[in-house]
Amino acid sequence: MSKADIIVGIQWGDEGKGKIVDKLAQEYDVVCRSQGGHNAGHTIWVDGVRFALHLVPSGILNPKAVNVIGNGVVLNPPSIIKELTQFSDLEGRLLISEKAQLNLPYHSLIDLAREKLKGSNAIGTTGKGIGPAYSDKINRIGHRAGELLNPAKLYESILEYFAQNKIIFDALDIVLPSNEELKGQLEEYSRELSPFIVNTTNYVWKALEENKRVLLEGAQGTMLDIDHGTYPYVTSSNTVSAGACTGLGLNPKDIGTITGITKAYCTRVGNGPFPSEDFGDDGETMARVGKEFGTTTGRKRRCGWFDAVAVKYASRLNGCDQLSLMKLDVLDGFDVLKICVAYELNGEIIDYMPSDLDNVKPVYEEIKGWDSVVGCRDFDKLPATAKQYITRIEELTKTKVGIISTSPEREDTIIR
Ligand code: IMP
Repeated sequence: MSKADIIVGIQWGDEGKGKIVDKLAQEYDVVCRSQGGHNAGHTIWVDGVRFALHLVPSGILNPKAVNVIGNGVVLNPPSIIKELTQFSDLEGRLLISEKAQLNLPYHSLIDLAREKLKGSNAIGTTGKGIGPAYSDKINRIGHRAGELLNPAKLYESILEYFAQNKIIFDALDIVLPSNEELKGQLEEYSRELSPFIVNTTNYVWKALEENKRVLLEGAQGTMLDIDHGTYPYVTSSNTVSAGACTGLGLNPKDIGTITGITKAYCTRVGNGPFPSEDFGDDGETMARVGKEFGTTTGRKRRCGWFDAVAVKYASRLNGCDQLSLMKLDVLDGFDVLKICVAYELNGEIIDYMPSDLDNVKPVYEEIKGWDSVVGCRDFDKLPATAKQYITRIEELTKTKVGIISTSPEREDTIIR
């Protein structure tokens, strides 16, 4: 019986999981998503071609891998239908859990309307309906992918839902689709997606029993976890490794190696605290060189220095066996680099993550920069200062850096 390995983002998302999952997916038989929805955006570069994936697991670029969308995902049918048009050989290569919650177009309308109402206190969501879809799940009033197998029954059930929730739609000024539109949409979703809808829990159990190599691909990042992140400025799922179990029907004993993905610096999209954010030229340089614009929304990402306090916390929460340090090349050419090694909170220096990050100030340590690491594939060939930077990250986060990425290309990766 094999174990499932996990790739998990350990900052605020957008750590570059897509490249690592894509690289590792070449060696895995099954690649699974367990949480989140089309708020995720994996950018993958292969031979200079850019692929932007949202719901489909990154293993889709390995012709031999089977890709699973687990029960913990909120599935937006129009988004995945559009995404699937990029691929032609999907038979038997994509499985969608019948228990995955449906994220329907009206969820996005609720999301956008609520954000507007919040004004300056808005979370800065992706507007993709993630919170409302998960709320319906927890409220036990949502609909699941398996219901697409009987679109006529689903249609009746959604009309009932609209009637019961009319007061909310009216209060938010939301115009719902006409009955005809809704019927047409559901029939289309059913036609396009039914062939992929199965019991994925059984499939993944069987795959492990048959000693297949299974990879669980996280979406978003640990600091956006609904329980352990910077609430309320978080997403609506458990983004930590434990969430990968519930989102697929696995138990903790099924899990093998856990790799935490972190950038060599730090970014965040949306609102909420970000202690090591750099508002000056250095942050601008990271944004420009690192092309820090969201795959899903196109929003510019906030940039700052590597936060070792947050990564140490995230590594412990997730049980990371190793870190994968992404985009090291973006730090090329800086004279001096900073690492956030502690926080100052009410005059006290702390090296742990308080539940409220609003009032902390970063305490930095400075490290000399380097000229270039771009394209480097051999740890021994890295400049001495780059090695020192990596060693210091290992000491501060108490976690080994096992993988280092030195360009967007799949092969420009150091595996130690
Ligand atoms: P939501 O997930 O759309 O509800 O957004 C909640 C918060 O999570 C916002 O700050 C988003 O910017 C952030 N977020 C959601 N998905 C991602 C992602 O894939 N990468 C980075 N941030 C994300």
